[in-house]
Amino acid sequence: MLLELEDIRTAYGLSQVLFGISLTVEEGECVGLLGRNGVGKTTTMRSVMGLTPPNAGRVRFKSRDITGWPPYRVARAGIGFVPEDRRIFAELSVWENLDVARRAAGRPGRWTMETVFELFPVLARLRDRQGGFLSGGEQQMLTIARTLMGNPDLLLLDEPSEGLAPLVVEALLVKIAELKAQGLTILIAEQAVDFSLALADRVYVLEKGKVRFTGPAATLRADQALVDRLMSV
Ligand SMILES: Nc1ncnc2c1ncn2[C@@H]1O[C@H](COP(=O)(O)OP(=O)(O)O)[C@@H](O)[C@H]1O
Ligand SMILES: [Mg+2]
Repeated sequence: MLLELEDIRTAYGLSQVLFGISLTVEEGECVGLLGRNGVGKTTTMRSVMGLTPPNAGRVRFKSRDITGWPPYRVARAGIGFVPEDRRIFAELSVWENLDVARRAAGRPGRWTMETVFELFPVLARLRDRQGGFLSGGEQQMLTIARTLMGNPDLLLLDEPSEGLAPLVVEALLVKIAELKAQGLTILIAEQAVDFSLALADRVYVLEKGKVRFTGPAATLRADQALVDRLMSV
């Protein structure tokens, strides 16, 4: 077991958002976190990262209790977070964005400037372009590439396909599938059911801060009516 959430409850001020989420991610797995807008997918990831620490429950990573650790320490422990808002440095070039991430992470490993450019040849071609001049899809690839520079053992991907054109989504899917094939463990939050079902081994469907369904992704791939029911209000 790489990641384990046990009954976590998380609030923004007085507003309770997660009401006891339990989930696990095993080494090498790709797990989908599904659910409509506002059900608590991002908050679950923020709870893991220590960006919005839970007020109850435990987060364990590699059997260590990391509940409430500050984000830099969680990242150092080996969890890479790709936020939904793609905060790249607009004034820095692609290469500089990656270099900053590499220095900040201080976790050497298989991901280097070279291997990241191998995975994303489009970024290699655009290495001198300023981040602010990249397309949405290129920015998403840079955000993922930047997180890989920290050589995470677990990758948290928050809504990677959001706002991207269908062809770009398709290209992104191929890249994430490649990461999975290379053995990287991934937790992916998505409203786009097809996207996450194409990648995930298992899924958790959230509703109003609780787990409404959990099971193999294959179960949902085979049952559109169940998907419709789970994703409805
Ligand atoms: N910074 C915040 N302050 C207060 N409420 C928030 C904040 N961020 C999210 N929320 C609320 O928490 C709930 C869950 O949000 P979120 O985790 O972003 O859901 P999802 O990622 O599934 O769309 C929503 O009702 C949202 O309005
Ligand atoms: Mg979200």
